[in-house]
Amino acid sequence: MSTFIKGLEGVVVAQSQLSYIDGQAGQLIYRGYHIHDLATHSSFEEVAYLLWNGRLPTRAELDDLKHQLALNRQLPNGLLAILRSFPTTAAPMAALRTAVSAAAMFDPEAEDVSLEASRRKAIRLTAQIPTIVAAYERLRRGEEPILPREDLDQAANYLYMQTGQVPDPENARALDRYFILLADHGMNASTFAARVTTGTLADMHSAITSAIATLKGPLHGGANQKAMEMLLEIGQPDKVDDYIKRALAEKRRIMGFGHRVYKTEDPRATVLRRMSKELCEKMGATKWYEISRRIEELVTTEKKIYPNVDFYSASVLYVLGIPVDLFTPMFACSRIVGWTAHVLEQLADNRLIRPRAEYVGPKDLTYVPIDERG
Ligand code: SDX
Repeated sequence: MSTFIKGLEGVVVAQSQLSYIDGQAGQLIYRGYHIHDLATHSSFEEVAYLLWNGRLPTRAELDDLKHQLALNRQLPNGLLAILRSFPTTAAPMAALRTAVSAAAMFDPEAEDVSLEASRRKAIRLTAQIPTIVAAYERLRRGEEPILPREDLDQAANYLYMQTGQVPDPENARALDRYFILLADHGMNASTFAARVTTGTLADMHSAITSAIATLKGPLHGGANQKAMEMLLEIGQPDKVDDYIKRALAEKRRIMGFGHRVYKTEDPRATVLRRMSKELCEKMGATKWYEISRRIEELVTTEKKIYPNVDFYSASVLYVLGIPVDLFTPMFACSRIVGWTAHVLEQLADNRLIRPRAEYVGPKDLTYVPIDERG
């Protein structure tokens, strides 16, 4: 048995070819390509192909993947009926978790854990999750879901399904870049959950349900919503100093900061900070960027911890018109690619993931009949 390490900090639990993180240098690489290059030159669909297949696609291969995604966006009627039954007050991540679990019952290959079927389900789930999120958003507002379009890419189609308007191309490109940045990230908690589930040879929908349930937590994917709630509570740039100094004095967690692996700036935050500045200026909402920058100055100075992917995501998603409690579902719309890529990698060379626990409880106690207990 190895020594107990709380939170598995630094423990290597798998070998993977999907993404490489250098926490000291602040580097992230997907299948050999630096995240900055991909965020600049690539698209979410191309990154999905790269993560699933290990190389960049030819144009024909990319067009075929886009076609596959477009064909699989519509939800089965039975699944939409289940979405309609949800209370409008349900937490969106609870709605997404439940809907993905239910989606298995309408997928003819749900119980087929072969690599070939799992690859097809990876595409179907990547296509369906944005539709589930947008449909739930409209239903809870008392509006009819908007059917997905086949002529728009993933990001543009999500914004269309949420608003009914074909989005400004710059806004669609911003969401596309957000999706690129969040697509995969090594053995983060939700990916680990997906791999543990796959390790028992449970199906893809079970693994993704585990992952969504795990992402929901505020220490993980739920931090982007909490970060935006903090920006809204602060409200104005001149209120930042009092708020942050009080929060730090009260030992509160500043959501969107710190990371288990990055001990310098998260390279995704570098890109998202620039995107936040550009988008906030374009939308005439520079205060969200200014508040964020001041928070960053104070927290990095006082605590020597840096913004992670969830901090500047907050202002980016907010000015793109995403409702604040849909921020973590947006994270899931991207990370579904990484989760499914890890499921496929686990399946290809599987061994049950079953660690040990160090027992620190009592031993050799004598059983006392209930009538003789104090
Ligand atoms: C994501 O793993 C991934 O890759 C995840 C992710 C991905 O792409 O999948 O990158 C996405 O989940 C990003 C993280 C989002 N979460 C948050 O922003 C929540 C706030 N962050 C923290 O709770 C924390 O930084 C964690 C959970 C992210 C990391 O926690 P660790 O590694 O367990 O570190 P820790 O809690 O032991 O903290 C170490 C020290 C502590 O100080 P001391 O108590 O020892 O004096 O740093 C302090 C903490 O108090 N600290 C913070 C802080 N984060 C750490 N103090 C204030 N605010 C924070 N945000």
